[in-house]
Amino acid sequence: MSTDLAELGTTGSGHPLAGVVRGPVRLHPPEAFAFMRVAGRLAAQCLDMLASEVREGIATSRLDDLAREFALDHGAIPACINYRGFRHTICTSLNHVVCHGIPGERVLRAGDILNIDVTLIVDGWHGDTSRMYAVPPVKKAASRLMEVTWDAMMRGIAEIRPGRRLGDVGHAIQTFAESHRFSMVRDFCGHGIGRIFHESPNILHYGRAGEGIALEPGMFFTVEPMVNLGKPGVLVLPDGWTAITRDRSLSAQFEHTIGVTEDGAEIFTMAAPGLEQPWRAALGD
Ligand code: MF3
Ligand code: CO
Ligand code: CO
Repeated sequence: MSTDLAELGTTGSGHPLAGVVRGPVRLHPPEAFAFMRVAGRLAAQCLDMLASEVREGIATSRLDDLAREFALDHGAIPACINYRGFRHTICTSLNHVVCHGIPGERVLRAGDILNIDVTLIVDGWHGDTSRMYAVPPVKKAASRLMEVTWDAMMRGIAEIRPGRRLGDVGHAIQTFAESHRFSMVRDFCGHGIGRIFHESPNILHYGRAGEGIALEPGMFFTVEPMVNLGKPGVLVLPDGWTAITRDRSLSAQFEHTIGVTEDGAEIFTMAAPGLEQPWRAALGD
């Protein structure tokens, strides 16, 4: 999801730390990093908290309630509530759901894999992050898919530094996932973020090395690859949100919000130690 900066009018500008827009990118001043750290950390802590709640028998709507209560207790606004008509704090994307799954009465069962995606607003700044959870035992193919998706995201993030281009990030993600014979979803991408939830540029999770926008200090964006066990095609259900794999194969996703620094990337949404991949903790390894 992304919108051209040109379409945004004055939204988000006029704030002293909103930064300067140059073509497709917004460059934030060094002082903005501290605010993104706070929002990113809180979103990450919400996902940390949910790790001990994901278990057989819990409804995804209950996880949503817990996330909303966590946000409000910590003075944050859940960005997804009333976002383009979405009514929940988290997206809960189960098994063959690629992204934007809607929390509801569905109760978790053994063997389920689940992405939980949360975006919290603190002092007007957005922290957007997602991880994979599971109810053990999960099939070997499912755990490999989750492992590779996390690795793919981290390989993409490892490319981020001034001088590299967005194509380098997408290329690293795509080649890693495809080398494991999984497929990259192309219908959804990462996005610029900051005081605006979704803005330019689109962060594609595929691409060619050396191509695309050059990275510069002060850019804030998400890296959020979706990887399918089968074919890359997706389909959006009539609810207008739930995206599933066309072939009903399993799909996994992880997401971090990052800022480009002078010499690399700062991850604003770091998990507590041991909770980067909550599905693993559930398996006890
Ligand atoms: N958090 C999602 C993202 O990574 C956006 C969800 S929009 C919602 O960009 F409305 F579905 F919540
Ligand atoms: Co996002
Ligand atoms: Co998200």
